[in-house]
Amino acid sequence: MAKFKPRVFSGVQPTGNLHLGNYLGAITRFVALQDTHDCIYCVVDLHAITVAQKPAELKASIREVTAAFLAAGIDAKKHIVFNQSQVAEHAELAWILNCVARLGWLNRMTQFKEKAGKDRENVSVGLYDYPVLMAADILVYRATHVPVGEDQKQHLELARDIAQKFNLDFSEEIAALGHGDTFFPLPEPLIQGPATRVMSLRDGTKKMSKSDASDYSRINLSDDADTIAQKIRKAKTDPEPLPSEIEGLAKRPEADNLVGIFAALENRSKADVLETFGGRNFSAFKSSLIDLTVEKVTPVGKAMDKLTQDPAHIDAILKQGAERARVLAQETMKAVKDIQGFVR
Ligand code: TYM
Repeated sequence: MAKFKPRVFSGVQPTGNLHLGNYLGAITRFVALQDTHDCIYCVVDLHAITVAQKPAELKASIREVTAAFLAAGIDAKKHIVFNQSQVAEHAELAWILNCVARLGWLNRMTQFKEKAGKDRENVSVGLYDYPVLMAADILVYRATHVPVGEDQKQHLELARDIAQKFNLDFSEEIAALGHGDTFFPLPEPLIQGPATRVMSLRDGTKKMSKSDASDYSRINLSDDADTIAQKIRKAKTDPEPLPSEIEGLAKRPEADNLVGIFAALENRSKADVLETFGGRNFSAFKSSLIDLTVEKVTPVGKAMDKLTQDPAHIDAILKQGAERARVLAQETMKAVKDIQGFVR
């Protein structure tokens, strides 16, 4: 088995309205991994255009996601922060992996089915192919670990299947070219913490999402203290007081969600939060949750706001990040082309 240097890769789409789910499920995890790993964090603009985007808004969103990374504490000097479209190797490897991935595998992707809905004949080919580009994002850096929220699990499994098939299909060439018995690592999903699936504040059975029509369903990183307070006060709950044990959260999706959010914001476990709040009613718990959310989220929003006022600074960070990413990606592509049998 080839030895792979541990390397983290993850991406966030620039499609507006970064919310608490993105923050707790992904971005805070990105921040934590910086101490132990070499990390590459990407604003995946090529993924964003799988559904129509207004060009001026796309540009603003790319800068906004970058600002969120920086505001949350990602160090773009120590690690790599860039936008996907500046490193052409992502799209190049995606094509090669398109010829590895099987139609049957893509047909199983639940996110495509959800997003395409009844309009299947009319969505872009890119939306269907989206998970292959995602595999290319990861594999072009031969990344070993991928922090994501729960909703990306199936896409990560597909990336592993693609990596494995490439390794098998070209095993002779891979060995002959001195890469040992595997060229791509099988990237490991890191789906961790108490908020891997933050749910809508209006319906505890639905994921918190950018595309929900109701702004009351989510807390945006850009929300001010009053808005956060209003949204949490209005959040759906049930009539019972909070349980003292974690088992008591089963079949209480709204309670489970709010406790999970509290736990993630304070970096505690849900069980620990219930030790404090078990037996208390929702109005008391919500007051504490409002204070905590305002304390943790509004500084990020304010820092984002400040950063986005200087787009030239953000663009320079993305450009430098892309230059560093490109060096790594080109190294992989040279090897892939040799393995594939292309003349270069
Ligand atoms: P995206 O932009 O939809 O979401 C970014 C990250 O936020 C997580 N997330 C959530 N986590 C918890 N609760 C929620 N309600 C919630 N909503 C979103 C997502 O799981 C994700 O980690 N396909 C990816 C972007 C991508 C990518 C990659 C990720 C492209 N290439 C390569 C990892 C590796 C996406 O659409 O994320």
